[in-house]
Amino acid sequence: MNNSDFSISSCSNPNAGQNSAVPARLDFLQSLSGLALALFMWTHLLLVSSILISKDAMLWVTGMMELRQLSPDGQGYPVLISIFAVIILLLFMLHALVAMRKFPANWQQHTIMREHIHRMQHSDTTQWYWQAVTGFVMFFLGSAHIIIMAINADKIGPYLSADRFVSEGLWPLYLVLLFCAELHGGIGVYRLVIKWGVFDKGDVKRTLKNLKRTKNYLTLFFLTLGLITFAAYIKIGMEHRDHAGQRYQPEQHLSREAV
Ligand code: HEM
Repeated sequence: MNNSDFSISSCSNPNAGQNSAVPARLDFLQSLSGLALALFMWTHLLLVSSILISKDAMLWVTGMMELRQLSPDGQGYPVLISIFAVIILLLFMLHALVAMRKFPANWQQHTIMREHIHRMQHSDTTQWYWQAVTGFVMFFLGSAHIIIMAINADKIGPYLSADRFVSEGLWPLYLVLLFCAELHGGIGVYRLVIKWGVFDKGDVKRTLKNLKRTKNYLTLFFLTLGLITFAAYIKIGMEHRDHAGQRYQPEQHLSREAV
């Protein structure tokens, strides 16, 4: 093999170099970014679901995110949310880019993989497939949502957010994104725990069964919470349709004004 042959084969096969640390590093990067995004997703849903407590609670959460209490005019610093959204978007892109190397490269590879999954009937392999599909969908819908949030960081609140669901017609995006994010995150963290052997001690079969059950409960919990939250925003958005674009005035503020 001459020099040019060697370089071509090395480029087309990144694993060609013996004992290369690159695949392991990429795997670690994928796991770390995935874990960070999953934790962000769950925290994010808990914050967004503050609407279930009350409109004032959601307004309070938004105010905390914008550090409203620290700004002299009480308007807060929505730019902080924009900056955070850009950071999450970069993490999102990095995670997708690293994960994409494991996707089938063409239709033939995809067909072989489908046949393999069908023949194996192995739930973890089937779950990997669904993780790839939901990840692909999320790449587009998630990026769109984050960019909308970064641009409209000063337009988050009980009414303005609900208006986005109903009057701006974004509810289908949120519904699909919710299912994709929760399935993807749940399967992802489950696979992560197995991959890095977090609970490797003791009876492996029992540990696996418990892990699977915990994953299912977590996914069910966040999906249910997400759907109830979704319904709450839709209800508020429908009630507020005639005044779309108007901000929510906190009850305390109104009563103070009325005095
Ligand atoms: C820093 C980045 C993000 C910010 C600031 C943000 C903020 C928000 C806000 C304020 C809402 C309420 C609706 C609205 O105001 O439009 C919302 C809903 C939602 N977000 Fe995000 N988000 C971010 C990233 C993400 C990511 C990365 C995902 C998933 C990939 C995601 C998935 C969702 C879903 C599914 C809903 C609807 C929740 C439901 O209906 O229960 N968000 N987000």
